[in-house]
Amino acid sequence: MCGIVGYVGRQKAAPLIIEGLKRLEYRGYDSAGVVLLQNGAFDVVKKTGRVVNIEKEAAIHGLQGSYGMGHTRWATHGGVTDANAHPHISSDGRIALIHNGVIENYAKIKKFLLEKGFTFKSETDTEVLCNLIAYHYAKEPAAQNGDSRFVSSVRKTLRHTEGTYGIVVMAIDAPGELVTARKGSPLILGLGEEESLVASDVAAIVSRTQNVVYLKDGEIAHLTPKTFAITTLASENVNAVVDKVTWSIADAELGNYAHFMEKEIFEQPVALENAMRGRFSEDGSTANFGGLNISANEFRQVERFMFCACGTALHACMVTEHMIERFARIPVECDYASEFRYRNSPLHRNTLFFVMSQSGETIDTLAALREAKRKGFKVLAVNNVVGSTIAREADGGIYQHVGPEVGVASTKAFTSQVLIGAMLALYIGRMRDLSFGAGVRYVTALKGAPDLVRKALEQAPHIRGIARRFARYNDMLFLGRLSLYPIALEGALKLKEISYIHAEGYPAAEMKHGPIALVSEECPAVFFAASGEMLNKVISSMQEIKARKGPIIAIITESVELPAGLADETIVVPECHEAVLPIVMSIPVQLLSYYIAVERGCDVDKPRNLAKSVTVE
Ligand code: F6R
Repeated sequence: MCGIVGYVGRQKAAPLIIEGLKRLEYRGYDSAGVVLLQNGAFDVVKKTGRVVNIEKEAAIHGLQGSYGMGHTRWATHGGVTDANAHPHISSDGRIALIHNGVIENYAKIKKFLLEKGFTFKSETDTEVLCNLIAYHYAKEPAAQNGDSRFVSSVRKTLRHTEGTYGIVVMAIDAPGELVTARKGSPLILGLGEEESLVASDVAAIVSRTQNVVYLKDGEIAHLTPKTFAITTLASENVNAVVDKVTWSIADAELGNYAHFMEKEIFEQPVALENAMRGRFSEDGSTANFGGLNISANEFRQVERFMFCACGTALHACMVTEHMIERFARIPVECDYASEFRYRNSPLHRNTLFFVMSQSGETIDTLAALREAKRKGFKVLAVNNVVGSTIAREADGGIYQHVGPEVGVASTKAFTSQVLIGAMLALYIGRMRDLSFGAGVRYVTALKGAPDLVRKALEQAPHIRGIARRFARYNDMLFLGRLSLYPIALEGALKLKEISYIHAEGYPAAEMKHGPIALVSEECPAVFFAASGEMLNKVISSMQEIKARKGPIIAIITESVELPAGLADETIVVPECHEAVLPIVMSIPVQLLSYYIAVERGCDVDKPRNLAKSVTVE
């Protein structure tokens, strides 16, 4: 949450910072702001609303300097107002600060600073941090133990700070320097040609450089155009590793699509190919993963799996639960990461932990990982963003390799997590009772998934027509069974988050136990009906809805024949192996939600109140 960009170099900083902020807007879009140091004073432009608002203002202000920083906000402390927007300037005018995170002891610090004569213009915890840096800065000798006064004042402040932060700081008499530090909020340094950058996400800096350093918790970096130095809160020097970003700016561009969500839905065949590449055994009967850091023998000892995640990623875990129990016959438990971290649930000693997270920065998922590690368990991560905090803190893991996902509503990250879950089930199953032949059929099916998804995507014009007819409803139900129950949950989540239609996902048979009271002509139901043992049961549930005049959209596989007149709309997807079915069935619901949101005039890529990466509790 919140996006941060800092630049120090030779180019005009304002357009570069604003361009970076636009790429970070998915992290929050309540307000935005930029600060440059010009003619010995901070020149700040900040406003509620989107980054485009400050773009115009920055041009009017004539922001010219070649170093500065900017912020796009997802409000935590204090409402959505111009005063609460970042950057904040200390009341003595000497320090400027942008911040992502929450300062938990801000009230105590504020009391201290008020007694010292500092004043406040906003309701934010960030302004408190800014004034505390100014307080230490004013007291600091010019240099101490090789530390500049600037770095040392930030370090002292952070030693007194509880909570989470990713910050960038400027000091009025340190032109051409930025100080940046993190604890719990991601920050990446970009090292370009005579320019240095810092941002909350690679997307904001990859147009300038592919050489990056992933800052770790408790580290402070000092940046000038040609140098960078990293130390810890305890003043130790850090030998940083410079990594190379493997994707380019074109991967994060909209191209010919109207929205990132649309682009990412249509990218799924290629995304799935990338997630699978090089991950099958030579004999074609099982999966291989390079980075698990746990031997096949250790895997064989596992008696239970525990999966933790949030939102869409949890739905992917639930599909994985089904696949592992079905094909490897090992018990699996899934939990909301936010609940697990506080539940202190009793855990079987031979449990292997997994967390799933697209961003790798979701604070609840990270906390669940840390809690499991604290209890002595190994934790593996399924994660998309390379170098993320979760990727670094996990004992091993599997990268999704689907490139940047920009749309707030997760699509390609979800289907690739489901795919990796199915591959894990195969890997574990083949260590147990799954035969060579069944393994080969499974692998063949997974390899065919991208083409089946391509076929499902051909339904887009038909689904768009259905969306036009269904966009007027205010409530909708999504109903599926077994591995399609999590897809029902995911369909409901997609619809509500981008179109603001109230939607619920249920196991289809659960309807009779309460939710059926909602059914009427005004509450349509989306059913997932695949060929197989559950088909007749699902058809019975559809009959129950129809008997109560509920309109029905049926998503069926090719060979399914529904009784005439049962469904008002039908979407047909290809027949497929059960390991691939949840992926293929996800496509129509993603498209349906997307087109309904477009039909209702919603801001698809930036739905209200949401941010893509949830780094606050
Ligand atoms: C919904 C969505 C969210 C995320 C959740 C976890 O479309 O994207 O529900 O799935 O916030 O995010 P990650 O996977 O980054 O941990």
